[in-house]
Amino acid sequence: MSEKPSSSVVVWDLFVRVFHWSLVAGVTVAAITGFFVGATAIDVHVWVGLALFALVVARVTWGFLGSRFARFATFVVGPRKVLHHIVELQEGTAGRHLGHNPLGAWMILTILAAITFLAISGLIVWGGIFAHGPFTGFYDFDDGQPFFRLHWWVALGLLALVALHIGGAIFESMRVHENLVRAMITGFKEPRENDAVEGAPEQPENGPRPGLTVLITLLVMAIPIGATFQASRIKIKVTHRPPDTRGTVYAENCSDCHGVYSPTLLPADSWRKLMATLDNHFGEDASLDADTTKQIEDYLVAHSAGSVETKPSAVFTTVSAKDPTRITASPFWVKTHRKIPDYVFSAKPVYSKGNCFACHSDAQSGWFYPGNIEVPDSIAPPKK
Ligand code: HEC
Ligand code: HEC
Repeated sequence: MSEKPSSSVVVWDLFVRVFHWSLVAGVTVAAITGFFVGATAIDVHVWVGLALFALVVARVTWGFLGSRFARFATFVVGPRKVLHHIVELQEGTAGRHLGHNPLGAWMILTILAAITFLAISGLIVWGGIFAHGPFTGFYDFDDGQPFFRLHWWVALGLLALVALHIGGAIFESMRVHENLVRAMITGFKEPRENDAVEGAPEQPENGPRPGLTVLITLLVMAIPIGATFQASRIKIKVTHRPPDTRGTVYAENCSDCHGVYSPTLLPADSWRKLMATLDNHFGEDASLDADTTKQIEDYLVAHSAGSVETKPSAVFTTVSAKDPTRITASPFWVKTHRKIPDYVFSAKPVYSKGNCFACHSDAQSGWFYPGNIEVPDSIAPPKK
């Protein structure tokens, strides 16, 4: 770097810079997968979220063990100093800070707190609504709902903070005539005579400890990540799971023409109605003897939508008024599948909307985890 003036000092150490730009990349991916791609990106979203959490843990640790300008002691100031800084900004007398200015400092803390909240609430949503990860079995669908809403709003809030942060960086760059974005890439800044004083000592005594920082981060992250793998491996006991239909009288008698639908996909009244009209079952005669019909009906009603705390069981309690025995006519189904073009449903190997099994590899179990969705990629749009 020959063009850098000899008086320049490294303000943002390598860790701070890598952290900053990794956070930018991670938040971008998390926002795109969370707000736009939706359900099918859930696994990418969760793992990027965990990576962001790891970055935050590392940054907080580095705030105590890092180099001078990375330390909280250098830049975190109380509310009075923040107010003072704002007043000075208004008066036009505010000095230039070599490290973070008081407003930037609080922005950093708020962003770190928001990401921490998003990571924890996200894991609760993952466990409650989707029965995955460390909180599986501790939270169910109903518990997960309020966390999902909070997660969504805080995520939106984080994007607003990011916008504010970018605005602040541009404002400060113009105010003190220095390119702060470039400084966050190269790390260098040039000290000026009238720089506002920074709190911490020139060289912290227990000087930068990168090894210890990495170790602490790994130890902290071992908890959620370890628990995630454990949960999927040993299948933590979930008290309310959809019933296993394999081997039941229902499965034996209702699998001739289509797959075995989880009983949790229709409410009790719909099952009763469907079982009462088997002689005209969507244009087919599917009638069975009275005994078997009764047995199947009892089974379906006992495990109908609303009977267990899974997402499908909750969302399929509402059916179409016109077509109450058709899962694919229910408001939730129609809304969730609206983006899938009709030709996909009529093409091989799907053939019909009711063939959940073609796209949801766990349809049989009744879970419908979004990470298990795969629309067969052999289906091409029809040629005109
Ligand atoms: C003779 C063949 C046949 C048998 C046997 C049969 N079904 Fe069906 N089922 C159909 C057809 C055809 C449809 C409509 C498929 C469509 O319109 O895409 C259907 C649709 C359904 C649907 C609605 C799926 C959707 O698209 O939302 C449910 C629920 C259902 N059947 C349950 C049962 C149950 C319970 C039994 C056993 C008592 C059973 N079926 C036995 C042929 C059959
Ligand atoms: C052609 C493939 C296809 C078929 C057939 C299909 N689905 Fe889906 N399903 C999808 C896709 C893709 C999504 C994700 C939509 C999105 O991006 O939110 C989805 C989403 C869902 C979800 C929401 C998952 C979540 O937690 O967000 C449920 C529940 C669901 N489908 C149930 C069903 C049921 C029940 C059937 C059969 C009656 C069915 N699907 C048939 C492709 C399909």
